[in-house]
Amino acid sequence: MKTKSQTAGIMGKILIRPLVADDLTDLEWGGEYSHFRTVYQNTYRRCLDGKALSWVAIHPDQGLIGQVFVQLECDRPELADGKERVYMFSFRIKPEYRNRGLGSRFLEILETEIRNRGYTTITLNVARDNDGAIRLYERNGYKTATADPGRWSYPDENGCWHEVEEPSWRMEKNFSKSLLVKKDAFI
Ligand SMILES: CC(C)(COP(=O)(O)OP(=O)(O)OC[C@H]1O[C@@H](n2cnc3c(N)ncnc32)[C@H](O)[C@@H]1OP(=O)(O)O)[C@@H](O)C(=O)NCCC(=O)NCCS
Repeated sequence: MKTKSQTAGIMGKILIRPLVADDLTDLEWGGEYSHFRTVYQNTYRRCLDGKALSWVAIHPDQGLIGQVFVQLECDRPELADGKERVYMFSFRIKPEYRNRGLGSRFLEILETEIRNRGYTTITLNVARDNDGAIRLYERNGYKTATADPGRWSYPDENGCWHEVEEPSWRMEKNFSKSLLVKKDAFI
């Protein structure tokens, strides 16, 4: 069993950087997520077109161990409208690297970039029974905005379409509001 200082040492060596083309196969986690191949390829293309952002966590020996994507605009403006709101999705860390602060670090990096680009709101959908993720988001200032039926569809690696229905909470973090609160605190 690893001690806390060994864990901290490993975490210090993990690099979080934008997704590159060579990472696409590794996003499939050796087959577990091959059904999302087309989703990943499309997201990567959207990153190149300036319509999405993506980050991956790279372990020095194990390679890719986590990821998060952000849509800057999409066909659902309540999620991402190209002006103020962006939509975070596909946030996932390999099980053996969870509960060490990597998810929180991903959020920190993503939020800094989103704020620097002038967006004011991050939206996301989280399954209603995903207590751990909901705790992480709440701790980081995300608030439940509404219920979302969580319906979406995607083509798998063979071009076969799948319908997903995962009742979710829409959570949001609003930067303009948090800036206002901070400003008031100084008066
Ligand atoms: C949700 C997810 C991305 C969070 O990533 P993570 O790296 O585990 O997140 P963190 O480590 O920052 O925080 C998780 C917990 O670890 C704790 N933690 C953080 N650093 C720690 C450390 N050094 N030692 C012990 N515990 C630590 C946090 O306090 C938090 O505790 P809590 O569960 O009691 O609230 C990850 O669990 C995951 O991939 N889940 C499956 C996919 C998923 O559900 N994605 C979200 C979809 S909306």
